[in-house]
Amino acid sequence: MKSKFWYILVTLLMVTSILLAGCQPAATTPAEEPAAEEPAAEEPAAEEPAAEEPAAEEPAAEEPAAEKSSVEIFSWWTAGGEAEGLNGMFKIYSELYPDVEIINATVAGGAGTNAKAVLATRLAGGDPPDSFQVHAGLEVEKYSPAEYLEPIDDMFDPSVFPADLLSMLEYEGHYWSMPVNIHRSNVLWYNKTVFEEQGLEVPMTKEEFFTVAQALQDAGIIPVAMGTKDGWEAGHVFEGMLAATMGADDYRGLWKGEVSWEDARVTEALEYFSEMMKYVNEDNAALTWDGAGEYFIANQAGMMIMGDWTAGWFASKAYSDYGWSATPGSNGIFVGLSDSFALPKGAPDEENAIRWLEVCGSKEGQEAFNPAKGSICARTDCDSEAFKAVPETYDYLTSAAEAWSTESIVPSVMHGAAAYESWTTEFKDAIALFASTGDVAGTQTTLQALCVDAGVCQ
Ligand code: GAL
Repeated sequence: MKSKFWYILVTLLMVTSILLAGCQPAATTPAEEPAAEEPAAEEPAAEEPAAEEPAAEEPAAEEPAAEKSSVEIFSWWTAGGEAEGLNGMFKIYSELYPDVEIINATVAGGAGTNAKAVLATRLAGGDPPDSFQVHAGLEVEKYSPAEYLEPIDDMFDPSVFPADLLSMLEYEGHYWSMPVNIHRSNVLWYNKTVFEEQGLEVPMTKEEFFTVAQALQDAGIIPVAMGTKDGWEAGHVFEGMLAATMGADDYRGLWKGEVSWEDARVTEALEYFSEMMKYVNEDNAALTWDGAGEYFIANQAGMMIMGDWTAGWFASKAYSDYGWSATPGSNGIFVGLSDSFALPKGAPDEENAIRWLEVCGSKEGQEAFNPAKGSICARTDCDSEAFKAVPETYDYLTSAAEAWSTESIVPSVMHGAAAYESWTTEFKDAIALFASTGDVAGTQTTLQALCVDAGVCQ
């Protein structure tokens, strides 16, 4: 086997170099690294060919500056739209720093459910990437910033970011990550062709939503395309429904312990969700969010509730036959989140990592990233002309920018803004379970208990 051969060769060289130079080998990276997609993998940099590792193959000394400078960027952006957006920023980085090799370390899985676990292991194990994706908000607490991250206050120009975003980003008196975008979680997408053919109106309320869903079902069309494979998607849809039944202020209050999870409007949101599950494709448990989107773009489904990275995904499929509205009942409320990049302590190439954060925070970087990603800029000075580069997202993003500046902004829980990661994870699992059990009373009791466990409710 090739790998065995390399393993023996590397081992021999290592032993030789120990004997000859009397020093320790720098690394003992196994020749076969686990694939980046594997959640259990501790080294997600699988894209990097083994030969380029600064490993023990090189006998010590002679050619000192042989290694190419690199920057390892860790994220979960592998789906259509996400990947294109990221590449847009990579392109700008490479134009500025052509000698730096970008290592695109991705761990697939929407909302970062897999990536976050891998990252925490790497940080705790003293093996950080140079920079990594983290949501603005309380999610950063998971990575013990004081211990594992560098504050980036000095790189931060607060005057170019909106106040709502700044308050999400600040944690324990510091900024720990550079925001690249603003996403909306509570979006209902509808298929224009299907709606036209069936003579349907865009549903604005919960009641209208079920009327439309029933009509679609009667016509033999999947009413709501949904994937629940990665475990976070149910929680995602549910947070929009919570915003719908609670209203902006009391939705916020739930996450601050000011409104009880025993409230009748939480019951209503649970009932809303469980009713919706009757209209979802039967194979939802086998599909990811974008996998389920295939039904939508094939005109086999009429609606889909998912964050606005879906617009980026649509664009990656050259699809633009869609309309949008808020998750029915949540009109006027913008359930918001932001992706950002952090700087771990001990980043192997800190200088290149800082340059990466500069690109992330720059106008050029954000104008290259966001139109493909389906998000609006985190910065307030992006040029709307730049968004014409991706025609499939242009109309949506124009309306999202308008909504962000006029609607009530509330934090997304499933995307790191509203709660500590430990509570978010428990919440995610409770709603994922609820998606299959439909146990309203039991789930509501659990949700209240989780708030108590989080130390937020009495
Ligand atoms: C969110 C993230 C988005 C998008 C989505 C699906 O958590 O903020 O940028 O990637 O997950 O993966």
